This record gives sequence, structure tokens and C-alpha cells, in this order.
Amino acid sequence: MIKIIASKTAEEAGIAAAEVIADIVKAKPNAVLGLATGSSPIGMYKELIARYEKGELSFKNVKTVNLDEYVGLSADHDQSYAYFMSTNLFDYIDIDKSNTNLPNGLAKDPAAEAARYDGVIASMGGVDIQVLGIGNNGHIGFNEPSDHFTYGTNLVDLTDSTIDANSRFFASRDLVPTQALTMGIGQIMAADKILLIALGKGKAEILEKSLFGPVTPNVPASVLRFFKGEVIVCADDEALSVIREKHPDAV
Ligand code: GLP
Repeated sequence: MIKIIASKTAEEAGIAAAEVIADIVKAKPNAVLGLATGSSPIGMYKELIARYEKGELSFKNVKTVNLDEYVGLSADHDQSYAYFMSTNLFDYIDIDKSNTNLPNGLAKDPAAEAARYDGVIASMGGVDIQVLGIGNNGHIGFNEPSDHFTYGTNLVDLTDSTIDANSRFFASRDLVPTQALTMGIGQIMAADKILLIALGKGKAEILEKSLFGPVTPNVPASVLRFFKGEVIVCADDEALSVIREKHPDAV
């Protein structure tokens, strides 16, 4: 079941998304959170930090597994997802860093690292909620459009469109890693709940395609329509614009 929470602005969508996570952490202080990077979840992380600072939330017993990491970037490279998680969330809350997990982008043998990460995910005993952004081409995690859905952690070649999109964070396009390790679609679909955050008009087309078009590995996010539980979509007005135009009754 897909539930769309519509917000006027990106800031409000971030607060709505934080509310979803906060409810889970309050109900289950040792929750396992599947986390995401990119610009979409930043507002949510800010709001979670604010609630922690007000004493409303504690992450002391929370465990996390992140979706993905660039191959070739160390955890202290300022564009690595490990660095992103520290500087956008972990450094500002009471989480025990040894309970946080990401694939190791510097692993010499990516296949062995993928297998290790599968073991980490399995050892969590289930992810309570998986946070997702959505790529311009419909990718979730770094599962790029393809002719098949993956199950486990896998090494992917990033598409030109993803490298273009992510080059805005790097000094030049040729510094953007060309590969990543990502949790597979099957692992994402094994979470208890999914929270997809989509912001801005750049996501409007792909969000409509994902939520209303055919389910196909060519649009990886479309698989969420087959999710067994609740998919909560926190989106702002701009990201919902094409859905509103084509499916006026949906939101
Ligand atoms: C990256 C990440 C994805 C993220 C996507 C969208 O490629 N691997 O997990 O969802 O970008 O990023 P943004 O939220 O910045 O639009």
C-alpha cells in the first residue's frame, strides 16, 4: 500500500518524514533503521537532530544500515556516504557509531565486501524502516535501471545520468566514482516499512512513472508497488506536480 504525505515545501516534507522515523524509534528504542544519503533526506536528518536535542528522542540503542557507498572513496573523503552520514546525522545524536553500517568503499575485493554486507544486513534480524531517495532515472540506493531486479548487495556501474547528477558535489565530473556498492532491491523490499522522500520538480516525472507506470526493473523504484507493507511517500508540491496533473484523485 502506498501512502502519499503531501507537503507544500521540502522543509515540511523533511519534518513529516522525521515524524515517521521518530514514531518508530519511540515505539522501539532498539529499532533498525535503513538509511539513505543524497539531498532528499537532509531535512529529515536535521529535524531528527532537533528532536534529539530537545530530549524527545534517543538513538542510543538504534542500529543503522545504509543503502550504499561509492567504490574508491574512503570514509573520511568528504563525498563518501560514510562521511555524509557522520556530518549530517551521526555526529549530532547519541548513536553508538559501532551500531552504524555502510559498505566499505575501499574494500580490495568488492564481491567479498558485498557478501560481508549481506551478512551485516542479515545479522540485523530485519530492518524496521528503509529510507529511500529516488534518482532522476528511478534508481533506489544505487540500483540503476536494468533488465532485472537484484536481490543482495551488488557492485554496480553508475549510469552516465547518475554520474552527471552527482557531479554537482564533486570539483569535476571525472572525480565522480563510476562504481558503487548498493543494497539490492530484494533486501530493500525485505524491510518492514519503506519511507521514500522525493523533493523538487526534477523528481516529478520519475515519481509519477514509479508510482503509476508499469512495474519494471527499468524504473527500479516501480518495484515498490509490489511492497508487502506500507510505503510512505513524503513529497513536496513540486515533486507531486505531475501526479496531481495526471491523477488528480491520488493526492
Ligand atoms: C544518489 C543515491 C541515492 C539517492 C539519489 C538521489 O545517487 N545513491 O540513494 O536517492 O542519489 O539523490 P538526491 O536526493 O540528492 O536527489
